[in-house]
Amino acid sequence: MSTGERPAPDELTRRGFVTHYPPSRYWRPEGLRGLLDPRPLNVYVHSPYCIQRCAYCHYKTTTLAEHRKAEIDAYVSALCREIALVSRRFHLKERPTISVYFGGGTPTLLSREHLSRLMESLREHLTLEEPELTLEAEPVTLTPSKAEHLQALGVNRISLGIQSFHDDILRRTGRHDTEQHAFKAIALAKATGAIVNVDLMSGLAGESDRTWAYTIERALEANVHSLTVYKTELHANTDYYADLKRHTLTLPTDDEELRFITHALEQFERHDYQPVNFFTFTRGGAFRQRHISSRWLGTDTYGFGVSAFGSLDAHVMQNTSDLPRYLQTLEAGELPLTRGYRLSARELMTREAVLGMKLIHLDLTAFQQRHGFDLARWCAPVVEELEKNGFVTLREHTLSLTRKGILWGDYVGRRLAARIESLA
Ligand SMILES: C[S@@+](CC[C@H](N)C(=O)[O-])C[C@H]1O[C@@H](n2cnc3c(N)ncnc32)[C@H](O)[C@@H]1O
Ligand code: SF4
Repeated sequence: MSTGERPAPDELTRRGFVTHYPPSRYWRPEGLRGLLDPRPLNVYVHSPYCIQRCAYCHYKTTTLAEHRKAEIDAYVSALCREIALVSRRFHLKERPTISVYFGGGTPTLLSREHLSRLMESLREHLTLEEPELTLEAEPVTLTPSKAEHLQALGVNRISLGIQSFHDDILRRTGRHDTEQHAFKAIALAKATGAIVNVDLMSGLAGESDRTWAYTIERALEANVHSLTVYKTELHANTDYYADLKRHTLTLPTDDEELRFITHALEQFERHDYQPVNFFTFTRGGAFRQRHISSRWLGTDTYGFGVSAFGSLDAHVMQNTSDLPRYLQTLEAGELPLTRGYRLSARELMTREAVLGMKLIHLDLTAFQQRHGFDLARWCAPVVEELEKNGFVTLREHTLSLTRKGILWGDYVGRRLAARIESLA
């Protein structure tokens, strides 16, 4: 522009050549903030083996009876190959890995040697920076020598799948655990110095107010760092589903489950277990899990192993769920990715609103910095209604779930998502 004057946006003119957006007059030194910061990464490692197939469980797992040691060996070798390949392909070694989560399945079923090989591979091909290292465990599989080994490997969080402390309820799930196993495993896990979480399920077959109160009492007595209560989800690939179809099983109704979870919440509150996400409660609100909170706020997570999920930049993706295919693909030196989805800018924002609400408090200033939108203003009619009906509070740029909001799970997140989508 020869005159130095800028044309008004609606002026019909050929003057003014746009070279940058936004124009360089808005650029500042502080605009470089974040550019040179390393992009953190979470890692998930899936182990599909279990000692039984629990009647309610929908996860892609396979029992040990079907899979002998040689097959597990082959699986661990494939995992190590995948870690090396993926790291090279996506330059993951350049990024700090802030958390590693061994999930399943039952990762405590892997031998000491298998676990060591996996950790070596992760250390060789990724940059582990004092990572949070979590491992899921089934009580009956946590032996003293396994616990010792986990400590030696640097596992600093152990999540025990206990489901119920009531032996009658446990028996009906097909699990081999008992209340006694649960307490032994909790003691072993605590002795490693790790932060210990206990998973419970609120809608198991045979559960009554009495058995549930027993489970909650024992859970509080266990005095672990963190308690998670899952609402039982019914999936078509489970024994529960087949038995319901055959009319040989009844499960607690939604109303009963709501009563169970309400009871749990009241008891947890009394004992200062505070909600940190759906549906995890930690002593004094401390011991938050980095893996889940950063993942829900959009930090990239690479999922290794058969059927594992992950996300990189705007993509979400999943590995094949077919175990032989997973092994063959890696044998051929290829990635076992099988499907994915590229999120638009709006979908990235919606995802953060929905998953971010799962963390109970959503920081709207950080949200606006990341997405450029004032969520409370955009969703004002919905937020006002949710506030009026007691699901959320809006204070100083933080949108928080109330106890009622927590009880109704993803309801608030779904309402926000619908509003954002309607504005498209
Ligand atoms: C993938 S499992 C791994 C834990 C370990 N295999 C065990 O069962 O001890 C993680 C948790 O998912 C939960 N879970 C499994 N099936 C579920 C379902 N159908 N609905 C809700 N939660 C479920 C259980 O609480 C379980 O502890
Ligand atoms: S609940 Fe755990 S042990 Fe049972 S089948 Fe699922 S992953 Fe395996």
